Amino acid sequence: PRPFAYRNRLLHCDGADLTALAAEHGTPLYVYSAHQISHRFQLFAEAFASRPHTICYAVKANSSLAILRLLAKQGAGFDIVSGGELERVRKAHKAALKKVVFSGVGKQIWEIDAALNADILLFNVESEAELHLLAARAEACNKVARFALRVNPDVFAETHPYISTGLSEHKFGIDIKAARAIYHSAKKSTWLDPAGVSVHIGSQIRKVDPFSAALTRVTSLIADLRKDGHNIRYVDAGGGLGVDYGATAFDPAKQVLKYSAALTKGLGTESAHLLLEPGRFIIAQAGALLTRVLYVKKNGTKTFIITDAGMNDLIRPALYHAHHEIIPIKQPAGKSTLTADIVGPVCESGDFFARDRVLPPVKPNDLVLLLDAGAYGMSQTSNYNSRPRPAELLVDGDTTKLIRRRETMRDLLAPELL
Ligand code: LLP
Repeated sequence: PRPFAYRNRLLHCDGADLTALAAEHGTPLYVYSAHQISHRFQLFAEAFASRPHTICYAVKANSSLAILRLLAKQGAGFDIVSGGELERVRKAHKAALKKVVFSGVGKQIWEIDAALNADILLFNVESEAELHLLAARAEACNKVARFALRVNPDVFAETHPYISTGLSEHKFGIDIKAARAIYHSAKKSTWLDPAGVSVHIGSQIRKVDPFSAALTRVTSLIADLRKDGHNIRYVDAGGGLGVDYGATAFDPAKQVLKYSAALTKGLGTESAHLLLEPGRFIIAQAGALLTRVLYVKKNGTKTFIITDAGMNDLIRPALYHAHHEIIPIKQPAGKSTLTADIVGPVCESGDFFARDRVLPPVKPNDLVLLLDAGAYGMSQTSNYNSRPRPAELLVDGDTTKLIRRRETMRDLLAPELL
């Protein structure tokens, strides 16, 4: 069941009445369901139960400390892409550091050193130059670096071009044809342990065949690497499993089973420990953004609904033309509708949540909910237009915890010097 549903005509997140939460905490407000997060994590775990695996949740999707801790307690590892994300994992659940994989095309020395000293599980190396640096830093830190090359399999995955990564025209990974020679060159350093092979082809991928294709290529590379004498123990399949942002019924249990079948098909008889890096699938539909209507206005023939949340609070529609369902917090009594653009207060025409959307009539002061905003919502917020970031709540059954307070004017100005 979806975590956000009407009860007695009022929208709730599990046991919590959103009208009351808005009154207490103000808007814009991110609200998450702890049950839904755990449920999605468990769906993933069950789908891969038949093989040794670790689910390394992609921290970038939602990096709230409370959410990282919740996932770590269920057994999650983490996929990080910066020294900042490493610090978040350390703070949320120190013991999970040993289940961290470190991805990203631009790792810096201080980040590599911090990860070496934290004894993370695996570096996903994205270039030959990075591998050389990793060897040097491993020696300097007196730590052996377990690494995988993140290969670019040249597989097309149908998604938005900004979040597709598996083609050779993208900046990500190392050409799979060049990988074998680079693994060979790593033998020169005793500080490098070629422990795995990684791949990640993009995000919000709904058709699972490209995952099979990518893993077929990775599996054949692993076979070659074993022939070359490398002790490959890990295969990292990346993240990218998509969710349904529409109003249609979506069965996440079926989707993740399809996904696991696709990976299994690509892996064939390969039995290395499987690493998975889901972000969106775990968290997108567990979260929503609650916002208040400030004004309704007409320009010519168009109607605009102006909310107190803007593109700085949820940038996905502006950046990817992403669709988010928008529903009123009071269940509409009749069938009447209006067609409007739902826009924020930011001074940009790109500051919209929906264009020409048909929705039940709303008026100033009404609350509306932007659904499926748990992934890449809060983690992509900014202070643009000097707007403080929203607060975040985690609903756990009947209790609700403030997991991030609303930013204040003091927070906003704190780093600046006059
Ligand atoms: N692993 C790596 C190496 C990644 O780059 C990503 C996402 C993931 C895992 C997690 O992918 P997921 O399971 O969440 O699809 N801001 C965009 C999405 C950017 C995805 C970046 N990489 C959005 O709002 O749609």
